[in-house]
Amino acid sequence: MSPRPTNDHHRSDAAAGRETQATSRRFARIAGTGSHLPPDRVTNQDLVERLARDGIDTSDDWIVERTGIRARHYVQRGVTSSQLGVLAARQALDAAGCTAQDIDLIICATSTPDMVFPSTACLIQRALGVHGCAAFDVQAVCSGFIYALTVADSMIRTGAARRALVIGAEVFSRLLDFSDRTTCVLFGDGAGAVVLEASDQPGVVASRLHADSRHVDILNVPGQIAYGEIVGSPLLKMEGQAVFKLAVSVLDQCAHEVLSLAGREPQSIDWLIPHQANLRIMFGTARKLHLPLDKVIVTVDQHGNTSAASIPLALDEGVRSGRIQRGHSLMLEGVGGGFTWGAVLVDY
Ligand code: ACO
Repeated sequence: MSPRPTNDHHRSDAAAGRETQATSRRFARIAGTGSHLPPDRVTNQDLVERLARDGIDTSDDWIVERTGIRARHYVQRGVTSSQLGVLAARQALDAAGCTAQDIDLIICATSTPDMVFPSTACLIQRALGVHGCAAFDVQAVCSGFIYALTVADSMIRTGAARRALVIGAEVFSRLLDFSDRTTCVLFGDGAGAVVLEASDQPGVVASRLHADSRHVDILNVPGQIAYGEIVGSPLLKMEGQAVFKLAVSVLDQCAHEVLSLAGREPQSIDWLIPHQANLRIMFGTARKLHLPLDKVIVTVDQHGNTSAASIPLALDEGVRSGRIQRGHSLMLEGVGGGFTWGAVLVDY
């Protein structure tokens, strides 16, 4: 019988995986981070003027006071999540000192995929010029990156993968209803990525994911493509206050859950990297954990809410600014439509 066709790097990875598992505990560590923001920066004042042309009243003061947001980035029409994602991925690969050929798993968290199918992860794989490795999307809205990181961590721990690209990429500007001032001022576009690789040292220390589908209706884009047309609204709608209340309570609970799984205290956290939706929610979570506010990585002021991209964007910003150092303990937390939420504790 002829041997099954295979590819050397996958065979050696699988062998390495078995060996690592047999000889020591296997973890997944962040080897590199990257991010990309589209060049068009839209300030609150830009939005105030744009909305005023349609008779919609908002102000820089309202947006800053209620959300902490001062600016966000929008893509040019036609630019897609995979295009943002691949730029973030390339930066993460450079930072990790590896190439796309070294990757055996690509997971992209997005709610704004380029197409119904194939997945954005497959399109990113193609843009990276590689083929053969597993590639799929995760859809958990603003918790998407936390979900994707947890899946990649699990696959690395079991030996199913050795080195993963985990990407959050979004073009939320194309879902916004610019006649609804309560939502359109909040969101932006961007992408962030990490290379997660097998290691005998943590890495990801603990993680937890949750969803509560009783709250499907408080945050959604209900439209679908069916029978050659869009059925239902293709624009985002949100009951802001209901989301706010849920977010504050579940983020606190989940952080404690993950700390307890890891056997650690809140004081051990060097950096809290929450989903960047609203500064009041982020600082509220820090206060509940008795963390000083200068331990929170904040990018919402400059990026707005970039959904699944917000946490890896903030992580990369913290790393590149030199604040996040090797050995630091990071609490990553996400919350979003579904309702979904989760947290990952990482020793960077
Ligand atoms: N400019 C000026 N006034 C505004 C604007 C605006 N852009 N938007 C709303 N208002 C007005 C409202 O009309 C209301 O006026 P009224 O009192 O005369 O009726 C007033 O401001 C207060 O509105 P609220 O909705 O009560 O404002 P709130 O303080 O709750 O802030 C916000 C709204 C920012 C949306 C907040 O509720 C929030 O951040 N929610 C959570 C969002 C979030 O965390 N999302 C995460 C997940 S996102 C995802 O998964 C895709």
